[in-house]
Formats: sequence, structure tokens, C-alpha cells
Amino acid sequence: MKTDITTQIKIEKVTESKLDKATLSNRKFGSTFTDHMFICTYKNGAWQMPKITPYQALQLEPSARVFHYGQAVFEGMKAYKDTDGHVWLFRPDENQKRINRSAKRLAMPEFPEELFFEGLKTLLTIDADWIPTADGNSLYVRPFMIASGNGIFAAPSEEYTFMIICSPSGKYYTKDVGVVIAEYYSRAANGGVGAAKAAGNYGAQFYPTQLAIEKGYQQVVWTDSTHEYLEEAGTMNVFFRINDTLLTAPTSERILDGVTRKSIITIAKNQGIKVEERRIKISEIKEAATNGTLKEMFGAGTAAVIVPISHFSHQNVDYEIPKIKNRYSELFKKQLTDIQYNRAEDKFGWRYKVL
Ligand code: COI
Repeated sequence: MKTDITTQIKIEKVTESKLDKATLSNRKFGSTFTDHMFICTYKNGAWQMPKITPYQALQLEPSARVFHYGQAVFEGMKAYKDTDGHVWLFRPDENQKRINRSAKRLAMPEFPEELFFEGLKTLLTIDADWIPTADGNSLYVRPFMIASGNGIFAAPSEEYTFMIICSPSGKYYTKDVGVVIAEYYSRAANGGVGAAKAAGNYGAQFYPTQLAIEKGYQQVVWTDSTHEYLEEAGTMNVFFRINDTLLTAPTSERILDGVTRKSIITIAKNQGIKVEERRIKISEIKEAATNGTLKEMFGAGTAAVIVPISHFSHQNVDYEIPKIKNRYSELFKKQLTDIQYNRAEDKFGWRYKVL
């Protein structure tokens, strides 16, 4: 990969910040953005001079390939501020590697690792005042890449734009969720783009998720092509606790290799909890829900953190999951967020200091 960059990031700051500290807490997830953004373009086979500029609209021609062929990939990360004002990221190397895996699958160029970290650190340092500290709040960080080159010939673009934008955000889910298990629609195909964080994977879920919402549920849990095995939910990976064993579907070319997912598996094993990463039949979970051995079900993702699933629906039958004491979801959430917010020792070496 050629990177024609000889100088540092070019920085243009806002003349006046739009930050209103009084309303920084508990903002609706992903609805407002900080003063600045990171932007770097790719042309003539090389990444160009990266910039940090005031957050602003982009100028793209209507023929930009992203609009026609959906070459767009993204990541989700969070920046946390501890009580001493230090700023932390959680396992950002995982996001950096994953966006490049996603880019490769969509025939897009990889974004250089050093630029990813330099851009991220510089942007977060400039916009550090925007990181909310109220309970469950953080600065959601969204790196993404789009095909910004022109032309509607169906082929990969020759130009790309990589950006990072940041949004001060409260909780993604404010209460437990109900889910519908997919019986007809599919999220991913064998040999498809399911493992990539491709924008289209999310857009394609909106319609079936709307149908679930109309029935009073919040999310769809996607299944394999036979609709017999459970895979992942729209915004998160899914875990099941049968008696004291933790189960989750294995990652594959259909399932996103979630950073929260793999962190929970490590935390659980470290606690001496038995973890099984294996294909999980819907019938097994329904049987466990019926005979009382399904103790918990929860979703896990960067935005969602860990959210209990209180009930699920399959073939129009609703299965309640009673709320037990000493839930794994609570234990894992505490251990995970204590590391993320620098409230506890980081024995796994996951925290990354920005400032
Ligand atoms: C994330 O958890 O960061 C995600 O990307 C899920 C989402 C909000 C689309």
C-alpha cells in the first residue's frame, strides 16, 4: 500500500465550539456530533494528506459510486473519560484490523494502521471536552470509508474517502429488549459479506426490523440459511446461558467478529464459566426456555454494551426469560465497563490511553 504522506495531519479548528456542556449528558445515541472530523482521501493509488477540519457536509457528485454500488464500510468504537480526565479507547487495534478486513471484502483499499491511530488520537485530543462522563455515557467514535470516486460503471471506485466522526452518546438501549427470531428474511449468505461491517448489512435489516418493531419487539435475531440455527442480532452478537454454561454462535463468514463478543468470552473463561462457541439450534433454546434451563439471553456490542433480552418470539409464540439473581449479563457488564472507564485493573491489556 502506497501512502504519499510526507507531513503530519493538517489541522483546521473551529473558530467557536458548539459544545454545550449543560446538555452533554444522555444525548440520544448518535444524534449530535463534535466540532471536528478526520478526513483522508485516496486517489491515484495512494492515501493523500490527512486533515482534521470542522465537522461539515461533504461534496460528492451524484455519480459517486457509494450511492450506486454501496461500497461503504464502518466501525464503532467508544472513547471513555475517567475521573482524572484521562481518555481511553477499548481494544482499538481490533477495530483498525476489522475495517481493513471489511474494506478488502468490498474491494476497497486498506487504510494504513499508523494513520488510523494518528487520526483517532489527534481528533479525540482536540474534541476531548465532548466526552460525556455521566453513567453509561461515552463518545461514540465512527470511522468509515466510502467510495467517493465518480462513475456508474459497475466496478470498484478509483477514489475513496476515509473519515472519523464522533458523537457524544447516552445508552443505546435504556431497557431490556425483546427479539424476534428470523424465519424468512436473512442477514447474511454463505460466501457473502456477513462478516464485514458493510453499511449494506445494516440497511438491509431495517425493513424486517421494522416489522419486528410493529409487533412490539426491538430487534431481529438472524438465523442461518435453513432458519434453524441462531446467529446474531441487528446491532449486537447474542449470548445464551443454559444452566451455568454460556453459549454463543461461532464467528464465520456470515457473523461479525464482535469486539465485545470476544471480550465477554475471555472474561467468562477467566471467571471459570464454561463457554461453548458452537452452532445453536432454535429448538434447543425453545426447549430450554420451556423447561426453565434457559437462565439468560443477552446481546453484546460496542453501541449496545450488554443488554438483557427479556423475551423472544418464534413462529408467533412468545417465550419469556424470567429475571434471575446474579445474572452473568450484569457481572460481565460490570467487569467490562470497569475496564473501559478505567475503574479497575486491566489484566487483559485492553485499554488504550489517548490522553
Ligand atoms: C456498534 O455497536 O458500534 C455498531 O456498529 C452497531 C450499530 C449501532 C449499527
